[in-house]
This record gives sequence, structure tokens and C-alpha cells, in this order.
Amino acid sequence: MTRSRDLILILDFGSQYTQLIARRIRELGIFSLVEPYNISVSKIRELNPKGIVLSGGPNSVNFRKTLRPRKDIFNLKIPILGICYGMQLIAKEFGGSVVKSVKKEFGHSIFKINKKINLFNGCNNNFKQCSVWMSHADKVDKLPRGFIAVGSSTNSKIAAIYSSKMNIFGLQFHPEVTHTKIGKKILDNFSKICCCKKSWTASSISKSLIEKAKQDIVKEKVILALSGGVDSSVVAAILSKAIGKQLTCIFIDTGLLRKNEVNEVKKITKSLNIQLKIIDASRIFLLRLRGVSDPEKKRKIIGKCFIDTFNKAALKIKEVKFLAQGTIYPDVIESSSKNSKSDVIKSHHNVGGLPKNMKLKLVEPIRDLFKDEVRRIGKQLGLPNSLLERHPFPGPGLAVRILGEVNHIKVNILQEVDSIFLDELRVNGFYNKTDQALCVLIPQKSVGVMGDKRQYGFVVAIRAVNTTDFMTATSTPIPHKLLNNISSRIINEVNGVARVVYDITSKPPGTIEWE
Ligand code: XMP
Repeated sequence: MTRSRDLILILDFGSQYTQLIARRIRELGIFSLVEPYNISVSKIRELNPKGIVLSGGPNSVNFRKTLRPRKDIFNLKIPILGICYGMQLIAKEFGGSVVKSVKKEFGHSIFKINKKINLFNGCNNNFKQCSVWMSHADKVDKLPRGFIAVGSSTNSKIAAIYSSKMNIFGLQFHPEVTHTKIGKKILDNFSKICCCKKSWTASSISKSLIEKAKQDIVKEKVILALSGGVDSSVVAAILSKAIGKQLTCIFIDTGLLRKNEVNEVKKITKSLNIQLKIIDASRIFLLRLRGVSDPEKKRKIIGKCFIDTFNKAALKIKEVKFLAQGTIYPDVIESSSKNSKSDVIKSHHNVGGLPKNMKLKLVEPIRDLFKDEVRRIGKQLGLPNSLLERHPFPGPGLAVRILGEVNHIKVNILQEVDSIFLDELRVNGFYNKTDQALCVLIPQKSVGVMGDKRQYGFVVAIRAVNTTDFMTATSTPIPHKLLNNISSRIINEVNGVARVVYDITSKPPGTIEWE
């Protein structure tokens, strides 16, 4: 699908901002892909990009063992933009020198355009100073051959370089970070220099995804594990448009879902005219979780039980050839990146792509898309906002929000509490002001006085966080009055709860979930 579009290729040298570069370029309407820094030149030729960006990275180009791209990328005769480490690589490659900066620049810095070149069109008319985002310890000290300096910063005379002959640019600062006000304009100018057409729009993407799915699947049957979340629902919508009744969605009710989840899924699949098989497996999930309190063990048991249940259900559908999955681009980059984390803190199991022994071919229609793009496609395909704006919900569901052993009484209590919390957030316009809201059941009894009687009930914690990437998060400042209302509704309406607390821990050091 995507290969016929104008493409800007990003080579990843390990910067924390690499994904952001791709997102910013796509926001401009141009397709971009992140590939490892040492991708072969023949693979690049195959991808046929109109321009290349060399990302930043944590290394120094002066290290003997440092990350370098294949030499021939500079002979491809397409525009190249090096950012931070990327600029230093260009400087080294063409005989310039890079030295340790006496003063490092991290965070806001002042950049001055010294030469009007296309890359800076519309950024600054009078060579004024601009605020940019820097993150570097090295700087270019001597210009590379054939380059001129086109900008300077507080701590370096050579903060931007340009070769008109080769159409190669280097920037010491990060245009992809929103703190760099001129960043968007610069990336837009770069895409114009690369002669890219802006064809990466929601309607063109969905059309090509549907077309591609039709071509790949032809007349075969496909199964999809629908989780009720955004990604698998968008995959279902794409496939239903592409292959109609050849698609069967399987929804597994683990018994660890939110209240009304099953009905919501039924409603959506009905509106999209999708075949749905609901498997009520709550009894078996709870049975296998009996007596287990370790969070990682719970995750593993749920993951395995999910696969077993899904396999069993899938085997009943005859002659299936494809398994559809809602893999998205950040998962793909993360698993191929040189930064890919080897030691995971939690074994996150994502409900979805699982049964290895079924010998099915994979179909992953949204594997090239970022989350915001998935949402836009979903909107384009008619999925309701209530679904597209949903907060993420972990695969193991409420099992990791009930500390310790799980049973159906605790699940029922937590479902009620959670539903009141979300309801209050929605009614008071707070659901969209937070990125994830959840409740936790603490299996500790606390005393309360209800109707003149002392009663012991569980403690529940409510938590809402603001985050962009779920790697760091801060607690959402919910007004005290609203917190009070939520607390009294929970205590009054849910039997078995005696106390409500609000979790204000940031991540780090806390995590978003309690287990
Ligand atoms: P933590 O708790 O690690 O959560 O700060 C970060 C994000 O990951 C979600 N999460 C999970 N998702 N399976 C999932 O599919 C899991 O086991 C799991 N644990 C945490 C969490 O809800 C948050 O969005």
C-alpha cells in the first residue's frame, strides 16, 4: 500500500526523539518510515525515498565504535537532513571536525539563522533569534568540505550546515520537538526540497489499506481477536470493508473486563455488520487464577488461558487461512530499534496476536500507523468517538487492578467502582482531560460507619494520569469537589467498599497500574 507514496526515510541512531521525527513528518501529510541506522543501500533503493533524515543519538561520532550509516547513502542523490548526531556524522564524513563542547546544551537554546536558505523559508525574516530545543554534548568545530555554516547558537558558531551541491543539511537542534517553534516549518521545507506530495491523508490511507487487504486475502477466511480497544476495532472495520463476511471476530469475555464491555462490543460490531463470536470464558479464567497473588504469574496465566480459549474457538471455524492482528507502528519500531528494551519490567501481554501453532498467515493492516493515525482512520471508517477516544485498558484487565488474589466478588465490586468513576469523569468533562483512569481494589478492610453501624469494607484507590507516551505520567489534578462526589457515590452505591483514596504518585517512580 504505502510503498507507492512519496516517502521520507528516517535512519535511527538511537535518539529518544526518532519516533517523533516520523510523526511530525506524517502530520505534514507525508509518509515516513523509521529504519535501523545501518540499513543497506539496496534496501533503501527498494524503498525509494525522496529524502533521508539521520536522527540524533546518544553516542559521540568520535568514538571508535560508533554508529555509522552505510557510506553509499551519501551518493543516492536525494536530499539528506542530519539532526544533532546526524549533523555531526555528516560533518565527520566530509572532513569536518567534531569536538566535545565546553558548555553542553540541553533544553531551550537560542539559534540564529545566518543565511537564508530554502530550509529556513518562512522561519524568520530578519535573521532574528529563535528558541530551539538542543540536546548535545559535542559540536561541529570545523566545517566539512563543500558546506557552509547557515546558523549559530549560544554555544556553537556552527549550529546548522548546508551543501547546495549535494543538497545535504545539518541541524544541531531538534526540529521534531514542539519546543522548537520553527521546527514544523523546517520539516515542511525539507519535504518540499524533497519534492514530496502530501498524500498521507486519512481517506487515502484507509482506501489503500482496504485495497491492500483485498489483494492479500482474496477469497480466504480471516479471524481476528477483538479486544474492544481501538486497534483491533479499526482492524475489524478495515477488514469488514475489504472482505465482508470472510472475516470472523472472536471476542473473549475473560470475566476481567469493565462493566458493559461485552454490550459495547456487540453494538459496534453490529453497526459495522461484522460477524462476531462471543466466548464467555470467565469461569475458566477465574478458576485458573484461584489462589494466585503474584502479578506476573497472574499475567502469564491470563495470557495462556487467552491463547487456549482463542485456539479452541478458532479451530471451530473451518478453513481459516489468516489471523489478523492490531500491531501498530510503535511496536514495530520498538522491536527493531537498537534501543529495544531487553529487560521488561512487566510482561505486557497484548490480547490479540497469539496462536503460533495454528500455522495461519498474519495480516496486520495498521502495522505502519501511529496511534493518532489509527484513530483518524477509525473516524474515517465510521467508528464512534466513544470508542476512538477510549483510554487504554491492559490485556489482563481487572486482574492487575485487584491486588493479590482475584475472585468474582472482588471483580464485581471493582467493576461497579470503575463504572461510577468513569461515569463521573465523563459527565463532568474530565474523561478527555486525562489519558488513563482506573480503579484499584486493595484487599484490606477498613472501618466505616454506615447508618450508625460499624462496617468493614475494602479500600479502593482511584487513579487518573496525564501522559503522552505512558512511559512517564503525572497524576491528573481532578478538582476536590469532584473527587468528593466520586467518593460518596462509590461508598453509597457499592456494597463492600468502605474507603476511597486518590493516588497522586507520578511515574516514575510509580507505575500507572498498581501491579
Ligand atoms: P505501567 O503500569 O507499566 O503501564 O506504568 C503503562 C501502560 O501499560 C499498560 N499495561 C498493560 N497493558 N498488558 C497490557 O496490555 C499488561 O500486562 C499491562 N500492564 C500495564 C497500562 O495500563 C498503561 O497504559
